[in-house]
Amino acid sequence: MKKQHRFSVQTRFLVIACMAVFLVLVSACHQDMYNQPKHRKALMQSDFFADGMVARPQVPGTVSQSQALYDEHLSTGKVNGEFVTTFPYTITRSVLRQGQAAFNIYCVPCHGTLGNGRGMVQRRGLTTPANYHTDRLRGVSPGYIFDVITNGYRNMYPYGSRISLEDRWAIVAYVRALQWSQYATCDDVPDDEAFKQECEAGGSESGDDEDEEDAEESENEE
Ligand code: HEC
Repeated sequence: MKKQHRFSVQTRFLVIACMAVFLVLVSACHQDMYNQPKHRKALMQSDFFADGMVARPQVPGTVSQSQALYDEHLSTGKVNGEFVTTFPYTITRSVLRQGQAAFNIYCVPCHGTLGNGRGMVQRRGLTTPANYHTDRLRGVSPGYIFDVITNGYRNMYPYGSRISLEDRWAIVAYVRALQWSQYATCDDVPDDEAFKQECEAGGSESGDDEDEEDAEESENEE
């Protein structure tokens, strides 16, 4: 026996037509995602970025994990297995400023602004970080300090993967400046008679404890 349909052909046609209209109405009309510029090749031209290139430059301060292995002195602080006693490039005032900025970010929490090992981390009770103002650390080479930053030292974590090569050398230069700042004598004052006389008359010659305490107090006030 032939099966009887519950709805007539006309009714079914009407339902299908209504569904079709409904689908058209609910489907999105915007084609933004479809029409957006697509950058399928790494070196394509594009007007999306101001410089017209799809390839983006490295973000400033990117820490290279492999590109810098061309110069032993620069990238390891050693030549023939010995720590270098010189810097890989000339240290200018701007390099020192760069070193100061990086030191304040990465080293101050433990070593303190003066490099005396009394940073916040130490004051909160963690392992005492080294004080740079000891005869031994005043005597180490720039290559050695670079190596400590890059590969760590005993309890100190290595920073090679997190601080760029240039920033690490700039920090070494700034550590040297910090060491000098606590140890300079009146003979180190540049040719300036008035300044020299003032120094000899009463300025403190070495970074004795009293000076360090003062400096720390002003550090706390900041
Ligand atoms: C999280 C804390 C911490 C930070 C941040 C830190 N250090 Fe250290 N550093 C230490 C500790 C702790 C020691 C002593 C390690 C030991 O003797 O076991 C040390 C030791 C040193 C030494 C002496 C090594 C020696 O031969 O005695 C130098 C130099 C040094 N740090 C430089 C730096 C510089 C530069 C930075 C910033 C890039 C830095 N440290 C960041 C904790 C830190």
